[in-house]
This record gives sequence, C-alpha cells and structure tokens, in this order.
Amino acid sequence: MKGKILVTGGAGYIGSHTTVELQNAGYEVVIVDNLSNSNADVIDGIQKITGIRPAFEKVDCIDFAALKGVFDKYPGIKGIIHFAASKAVNESVHKPLLYYRNNIVSLLNLLELMPEYKVEGIVFSSSCTVYGQPSSEYLPVTETAPIQPALSPYGNTKQIDEEIIRDTIHSGAPFKSIVLRYFNPIGAHKTAEIGELPNGVPQNLVPFLTQAAIGIRKELSVFGDDYNTPDGSCIRDYINVVDLAKAHVISIDRILENKTDAKLEYFNLGTGNGVSVLGLIHAFEKTTGVKVPHKIVGRREGDIEQIWANPRYANEVLGWKAVESIEDTVQSAWNWQLKLRERGVM
Ligand code: NAD
Ligand code: WQD
Repeated sequence: MKGKILVTGGAGYIGSHTTVELQNAGYEVVIVDNLSNSNADVIDGIQKITGIRPAFEKVDCIDFAALKGVFDKYPGIKGIIHFAASKAVNESVHKPLLYYRNNIVSLLNLLELMPEYKVEGIVFSSSCTVYGQPSSEYLPVTETAPIQPALSPYGNTKQIDEEIIRDTIHSGAPFKSIVLRYFNPIGAHKTAEIGELPNGVPQNLVPFLTQAAIGIRKELSVFGDDYNTPDGSCIRDYINVVDLAKAHVISIDRILENKTDAKLEYFNLGTGNGVSVLGLIHAFEKTTGVKVPHKIVGRREGDIEQIWANPRYANEVLGWKAVESIEDTVQSAWNWQLKLRERGVM
C-alpha cells in the first residue's frame, strides 16, 4: 500500500474514476461524499472494477466537525484530492449563495484541518473556465494565459478557491498543492461500471447527446453555427475521464514522493485538440453507427466560442499525456448510456 488518500466527492463522475486509478496504483482510498449529486451504488462499481471496496463516509465537507471525524477515524491520511463541489453553471446563477458556501467552505475546512493531521498535499479540481474566452494569441491555452473575470458564480468559486489555495501556500502552510485545470471531461470507464450520472436534463453536451441518441430526449440542440470557427459551432478540448483521472494519481505521487520542490503548481489538463460540437456529433455517429437527432438553434448565453489546451507543460513537467482517442471516448460514453438503460436507471 502506498498511503491513504482522502477523495472528497469520490462518488461523483471524476472522483469515482480517480478512485479506481488510485486503487490500481496501490493507494488506499477514503471517500467522503454527501451524495448531493451522486449515488452510493457508485462504490459497488468501483469495487467491481478494482476488486477493492474503498472506505466511504457520507459526510458533507461543509460540516467541519464531521470532516474532522473522518481524519480521526482514518489516521494517517497523506493526501487529499478535492473534487467535492456543486458544478452546474446555470444553477449557480440562480443559487449563488449555495455555490459560494459549498465550494468555498468545503475547501476552507480541508485547508484548516490539513496541518493538524499532517496531510502533505492537496490536489484541487479547477477548470479552464478561469481563462474565460482567451484572445487568439493565447490559443491554445497555456497555464500563463490571463485569468479573466468569471462568467458565473460557479466559475467565480473556482477562481476564489484558487486564490485561497495560493494565499494559504504563500503564508507558509506545511503542505503542497497542485491545481488541475480541466478542459471538458467526457466518456466513461471502459467496463461501463461507472460513468457520468447527470441529474435531470443534462446541461453538458455529451450526456445530452447520448440521451438524444438513445431516445430519452427528442433531439440535441446545437447552440449556434455562426461562430467564427471552421464549421461555425463552438470548439472545446474534450478529455477522456480516465486519462484525466490518471493525472490525479501522478499529481499525488508528485507531492508525496517529493518529485518537486514547488509548493504550488498549476497544470492544464486537455488533449491539445480542439473539436467542434458538430465534429463531436460526427465522431459519435461514425464510431457507434448511431444517429444523433439534432438541430441548430441560437447561441447559448455566456458560451465561449473556442478554447483548447496547450498540454505541453503537463506533458513535460507532470509527465502526463492524454492517450485515449476521441472515437474510443465517445464509444465509452455510449456504452455507459446503454448500461444505464440495461440497469433501468434511465
Ligand atoms: P460530480 O457532481 O459528479 O461530483 C462531485 C461530487 O461531490 C458529487 O458526488 C457530490 O455529491 C459531491 N459533493 C458536492 N458537494 C459536496 C459536499 N459539500 N460534501 C461532500 N460531497 C459533496 O462532478 P464532477 O464532474 O465529478 O466534478 C468534480 C470536480 O471537478 C468539481 O469540483 C467540479 O467543479 C470540477 N470540474 C468538473 C468539470 C466537468 O466538466 N465535469 C470541469 C472542470 C472542473
Ligand atoms: C460544450 C459545447 C455548448 C449542450 C461547462 C462549464 C465549465 C466546465 C464544463 C466545470 C458548448 C455545446 C452543449 C447542448 C450544445 N465545468 N452544447 N448543446 O460550456 O464548455 O463548459 O462544463 O468546470 O465550467 O461552463 O461545456 O458540455 O456545456 O458545452 O450545443 O445541449 O457544447 O454550446 O459549445 P462548456 P458543455
């Protein structure tokens, strides 16, 4: 065993895939999740894939005493990967206080507890949303591109959390941090035992696309085909969730094995390839042979026209690279949608 890692939000989409990779790498995982956007069955899925059942505590990270209780119950936690957060952009506009409280207090509680329990580092889930729409000179986006004013309370919580981490590390806190800025995570584990479980009508492209393809939704709306891009639809950097999960294992190794002297580092996690909405639909249809009913509608307010990562720093310094193809990734998303139907979930 390599050491004990606390994974907050470990029953969620990225957290569950990361738990699998951590266990495969020999780490012992303790999951803390309040199940506000996930289901305890996910723990079964993780066990099916890895043969190991991670410890699971249904605890809310904003509850300081309960969170402290987890550190007492599982002595020797060496590192934290902090996924727990509310993440629906649109909801955050209507419920800003929920987002500020959940996403900020959770982080404050962890940072306050870390020195007492001698936790050596924290890996934080940030987002390319901090870059807003980069001007053309900053595309593809490196870690030094300017941070732009957030377009939503959700985006702002990520910026504030990054600042809280920065100031805490600069104050001389006795731990390290790696901030990972994800581009657009999609797909599911190859086994289809775990994947993304959207709540209600999906806001994100791929869950909506697979639900339209299977007939749960009438058709996918493509938000705009009049952007200044080759086919007129928006461009994103879609990153396979298992590739993304592996970057967390490398990050925690980097902190715990002292592979860097830096106390705080930032990495963009993307493939380096920009794919348009229409391009993604095409890749899905070609790979799976399944048609996606879709129509072009007007632009979605607040959408960024185009963004994709320059992953060179993550490739060279972190030693991580996205390897899964877009074809295998959309196929995994489809297999997961089929599995949800088989299970009678949706
Ligand atoms: P998710 O909703 O599937 O997972 C988050 C998990 O955290 C859920 O299981 C939820 O129940 C739990 N949670 C929320 N608040 C909690 C709290 N106070 N205490 C305990 N558990 C709590 O989301 P995800 O897509 O896996 O995202 C994980 C992280 O990555 C989030 O911080 C998110 O903001 C960030 N992120 C996600 C994306 C994306 O597109 N999915 C992109 C960039 C960044
Ligand atoms: C992708 C593309 C849409 C749905 C959001 C958050 C961001 C990050 C990831 C966490 C866009 C288009 C979508 C649909 C469509 N989350 N689209 N029809 O907007 O890049 O980012 O999720 O940090 O913060 O803002 O992702 O999946 O919503 O959209 O045409 O029904 O698909 O316009 O171009 P986005 P998305």
